[in-house]
Amino acid sequence: MDIARTPSSPDGNIEMADAAVEPHDPPEIRREDYRPFPWMVPETRLEFDLGLESTRVRSRLTVARNAKADASPTIRLNGDGLIPTSVKIDGEPTRAYTMDGDDLVLTLPGEAHEIAIETEIDPSSNTQLMGLYASNGMLCTQCESEGFRRITFFPDRPDVLSTFTVRMSGAKDQFPILLCNGNRTDEGEDGDTHWAEWHDPWPKPSYLFALVAGDLVARSDSFTTMNGREVELNVWVRDGDLPRTEHAMESLKRSMKWDEEAFGREYDLDLFNIVAVSDFNMGAMENKGLNVFNTKYVLADPETATDGDFDAVEGVIGHEYFHNWSGNRITCRDWFQLSLKEGFTVLRDQLFSQDMGSEPVKRIEDVRILRLAQFPEDSGPLAHPIRPDSYREISNFYTATVYNKGAEVIRMMRTMAGEEAFRKGTDLYFDRHDGEAATCEDFVRSIEDGAGLDLKQFRLWYSQAGTPKVSVELTHEGEEAVLKLRQTVPPTPGQPDKKPMPIPLKLALFDQQTASHSGEQLIVLDTESAEHRFDGFANKPVLSINRGFSAPVTIDRAIDREDLVFLAASDDDPFARYEAMQDLMVRHLVAAVAGKLSEEERNRGGASIAEAMGAILADPDIDDLMRGELMSMPSQTYITEQMELADPGLIHAERERLKALVGSQLSEPLHRLYERAEQVPFSLDAEAKGARKLKTMVLAYAAASDPEKAAELAAHQYDRADNMTDRQGALMVLTGLEGVERTNKLLDFYNRYEGNALVIDKWFALQASSLHPKVVEHVKALADHPDFTLRNPNRVRSLYMAFAGNPQGFHAASGEGYRMIGDLILELDPINAQTAARFVPPLGRWRKVEPQRAALMREQLERIAKAEKLSRDTYEQVSRSLAD
Ligand code: BES
Ligand code: ZN
Repeated sequence: MDIARTPSSPDGNIEMADAAVEPHDPPEIRREDYRPFPWMVPETRLEFDLGLESTRVRSRLTVARNAKADASPTIRLNGDGLIPTSVKIDGEPTRAYTMDGDDLVLTLPGEAHEIAIETEIDPSSNTQLMGLYASNGMLCTQCESEGFRRITFFPDRPDVLSTFTVRMSGAKDQFPILLCNGNRTDEGEDGDTHWAEWHDPWPKPSYLFALVAGDLVARSDSFTTMNGREVELNVWVRDGDLPRTEHAMESLKRSMKWDEEAFGREYDLDLFNIVAVSDFNMGAMENKGLNVFNTKYVLADPETATDGDFDAVEGVIGHEYFHNWSGNRITCRDWFQLSLKEGFTVLRDQLFSQDMGSEPVKRIEDVRILRLAQFPEDSGPLAHPIRPDSYREISNFYTATVYNKGAEVIRMMRTMAGEEAFRKGTDLYFDRHDGEAATCEDFVRSIEDGAGLDLKQFRLWYSQAGTPKVSVELTHEGEEAVLKLRQTVPPTPGQPDKKPMPIPLKLALFDQQTASHSGEQLIVLDTESAEHRFDGFANKPVLSINRGFSAPVTIDRAIDREDLVFLAASDDDPFARYEAMQDLMVRHLVAAVAGKLSEEERNRGGASIAEAMGAILADPDIDDLMRGELMSMPSQTYITEQMELADPGLIHAERERLKALVGSQLSEPLHRLYERAEQVPFSLDAEAKGARKLKTMVLAYAAASDPEKAAELAAHQYDRADNMTDRQGALMVLTGLEGVERTNKLLDFYNRYEGNALVIDKWFALQASSLHPKVVEHVKALADHPDFTLRNPNRVRSLYMAFAGNPQGFHAASGEGYRMIGDLILELDPINAQTAARFVPPLGRWRKVEPQRAALMREQLERIAKAEKLSRDTYEQVSRSLAD
């Protein structure tokens, strides 16, 4: 396959679309080619005559030459699959326009004009769920990144800001509720139709436009801002879902309050609407004043949502709300700057959730996500810097790197500056760039100026991909502890040679005897290697490093097993304790998989891990949520990352064996823990959540060591559950086991929740991610289930993302798992390209896998690459995954 670079656009506009390119060779868009748009669009007026099968869109744009850009006689308005039914310039119909591919190009003689264009679209046939589409009889939009051009012709790029005035009309009975950005300024009716006018006073790019029309009901409330302004709040859902919106509303109010306190940010409209839709490509979208959410991140009650679901709702509501400042008031100059809004907003939502619940537990969860999703990306063919240099399809760059590593990079600045100085930096950023389309460079400079940091070398974190590795060695000479550090940043596609980066490492040196240290220190490793000396240690201390995960790196530490056991039991940094436990297990598993351990060594290693875990079970000073974290086994993905070449079957087997060993050695204390947890009545407080987490954890260990007992316990937990966390946990364990209880409970679960899409999604996902040896057959059968459909992204992800993340199934030695994902991609691509492309990366990890499976994975990628017609999305991911 040819992935040679195509030349950049002739006029240097990164928005170019070249009609002549083959569908198989979409142009590469490069950051360095950015040019400001030659025109400004101060005002946009839109009129929608809404219909499910046919919606008429009339747009009127006032345009004026942009003095800050090179003058151009033409204006390019992006379109995607649109045909103009009428074009007027300054009120006069004109045919003096050309179509360049999907774009409409007009020649404009003067300084300022009005352009009026009419189009007609069919929302009901929009299966891509980008632009205006129908979902359950309602109409809604998704415009980020380039969906607005599927609605009307427009300079669909984030640096063109416009004030929008919108009039929408439709059948009263079909669309009783009409919503748009900003405030409603007028409404009326005309026979069977009615209309509403909306005005958004804040200039915004087209990707933040939203419209919703349908039969919806709201939970309403209000929030008084720090300056005493009252804001009306609504959470819109389908009739019947209202009782499940309380948590969303409470989360919204907590978000608004928190952003005032933590970042000094106040809301800026009189109205804030959230709408839940069941067909949605992503989690949620921050459209100005009208956030659109996947139902998954709005609806929650204890009967149908797990503790994890409740936390996710709170986090996503926070995230989208926080975008009002970090994304909307200050937006991105171009899509290469995506991490400016996403990385920063992820950090903001992480800090919010830390403050609302357990700080260390949230930190551990976020590190786990980073390792699960971002580390593999950074070490594979799709590796890219948090600010990419080029793309073919921007949808492919909403990645764990841009989001989660992006958040880590900003978190490092906060760690180096300290919280107070960092706040000065963000204050300056919001102040300096309010109303602008900014760059990552603008952000870094604001933090530098406001917080008083020198981030010259730190900027490398924006341009270099790959997870740095830091080798750590501590020796003892006389009274001195000597710390030797060395960093390597691995080569990644297009970046063979890397420069050393500043790596902030929090550390502490423990006295073995007293289990204490004399204070945490922060050192910044900014050279390839460095040596630090610490005086006053009669005995060799135990090093605790990268505390709180102060830098998103891998630590390779030369440390004795006994010292890890000590840290796992005694470190006062909860993350470092977790890390010590993970290290103990990873080392053992990596050695076992590599065949380096005799049977006896294997058992001894397992026993010492069980012993360390036993101390954690018995520790009265930790809460159960934290205990649950300390008891978690490292994921298969994370273990794979520590190996050059992985045999997924072996890793899985060793991991299960260790689980069984720990489960049987600790069977007694685990069951005592279970009994204690069983006594805790249901509530949403931390203690009760911790108890629930432990119960399912104990079941999972029991399932490996004593499956019969586990089945009995799980069936019992399932039957007496008064909440989804217990019920799903029990069913998860049962789904991995043989026996009648598996069949019974799966059937019961389905019957109990039939018709509740979000819970039926769980039913699919549990079976697709199960440890059952016949998971491949199960998933095949589920794909033919009457409730399965490729039209609903939640359903697709429930079955197939769960499966692609299940090593048992995906990496089946026969290659069957790879074939199933290959088939899915080919079938889904024409229906929903964005979702289809997201299934490519699991196949792209073939380089990390033993040769036989690797060949089978490649085979699927090559088969997809040969397809007659392929979306830009899937084409780009497949070609990058195969490139060498
Ligand atoms: N702006 C994004 C939504 C989005 C993503 C639009 C990709 C278009 C393409 C939104 O703010 C977002 O990041 N949503 C996340 C959830 C968030 C909590 C990380 C999502 O949808 O997964
Ligand atoms: Zn976001």
